[in-house]
Amino acid sequence: MDSILVTGNGPLNGDIPIAGAKNACLTLMPATLLSEEPLTLTNAPRLSDIRTMTLLLQSLGAEVTAMHEGKVLAMSSHALTSQRAEYDIVRKMRASILVLGPLLARFGYAEVSLPGGCAIGARPVDLHLKVMEALGAEMDLRDGYVHAKAPTGGLRGGAFEFPIVSVGATENALMAASLAKGTTVLKNAAREPEIVDLVECLRKMGAQIEGEGTPTITIQGVDRLGGATHRVVTDRIELGTYMLAPAICGGEVTCLGGRISLLQAFCEKLDAAGISVEETDKGLKVARKNGRVKAVDVVTEPFPGFPTDLQAQMMALMCTAEGTSVLEEKIFENRFMHAPELTRMGARIEVHGGHATVTGVERLKGAPVMATDLRASVSLILAGLAAEGETMVNRVYHLDRGYENVEEKLSALGARIERVKGQ
Ligand code: UD1
Repeated sequence: MDSILVTGNGPLNGDIPIAGAKNACLTLMPATLLSEEPLTLTNAPRLSDIRTMTLLLQSLGAEVTAMHEGKVLAMSSHALTSQRAEYDIVRKMRASILVLGPLLARFGYAEVSLPGGCAIGARPVDLHLKVMEALGAEMDLRDGYVHAKAPTGGLRGGAFEFPIVSVGATENALMAASLAKGTTVLKNAAREPEIVDLVECLRKMGAQIEGEGTPTITIQGVDRLGGATHRVVTDRIELGTYMLAPAICGGEVTCLGGRISLLQAFCEKLDAAGISVEETDKGLKVARKNGRVKAVDVVTEPFPGFPTDLQAQMMALMCTAEGTSVLEEKIFENRFMHAPELTRMGARIEVHGGHATVTGVERLKGAPVMATDLRASVSLILAGLAAEGETMVNRVYHLDRGYENVEEKLSALGARIERVKGQ
């Protein structure tokens, strides 16, 4: 398994390109299953999760061709051969559950293995199943698979209020309801930019949807959907991650294509910590103002709140801040696995349930550490960039699920970072 070796050294400067959003692409790709006509995505990120989704779609009989070094995905589902998403692929990636809604809506039947994914809490899929039931489907859990069946004549519109906000369940519901008979009203729906991106794509395919970006979304089902070409929205999590690099190390970095509207709550926290963020024609220009970063408290929440997917990276910043900060994780239990690893680097962190209290130290010290999930991996790299000496981040396979060319992108800013190939 590969490792990443980081040597802490001075400020970072320059421009860094930000890829298309992994999480948007992972829901846009299954949308191809809704139509016989081609769906083409541009600005796709080149990540192992995207390759896993490609394999999953191909296993169902979809054609998926990666072009322009993987930045363009040309897909067609005119001749699907299976409605069963096998355990061997699904276990690698939780987002595989997103084929459920499209298959069920188009074919009236789907079998999807229960997913795996990052080890950050129990992460059930009950809401995905309940919202399909609200559209008339019968769900049966057998042999580790969800067996879903639409009523005779297909899914029908319904009303569903999510008891908690779920990005994935909202996406599944949007895709399924687009081909259901009649009107569906989703309440307490997720408002993430990736949801808005999916709706924009579905609309190009002919779907009739209103209210995306608000908690109530109304979908008027149509008989069939057509093809489309769609550009994947900017990855706000990659954006926020790289904004933290100059915040932690000093320097001035422009994250190309970044917009404050993608990360309003995060940018407000950076401002309070003493980091300047300026929106320019090119993207977001980030620089640390004079002196040490100030401690700020953070609570993770659904969009437009502070994203859980930036909590680990924000903790890395708080490790060297002046004062004490409290980070509260409200989306996923057990999402502080990076804390003991940061502690190995000299950070002072105490975790109690869903809270982590971080008392800033002057400087972290390099150490061998273990990456436990995708965002934890990158938080350790950020910490290593600012630490004294060498940090070896082991087990980085999670990193490749969500960040393309991380070593090249950070090296171009002046960071000393290299991949050490494993056996
Ligand atoms: C998506 C993102 C992930 C991000 C998360 C929250 C993708 C591929 N992944 O994950 O990076 O961290 O949103 O912003 O887009 N829940 C249930 N039952 C369900 C579904 C979810 O209880 O059926 C719970 C989860 O355990 C969690 C909360 O709802 O506590 C939110 O999860 P959800 O928004 O569904 O996350 P994902 O869509 O899996």
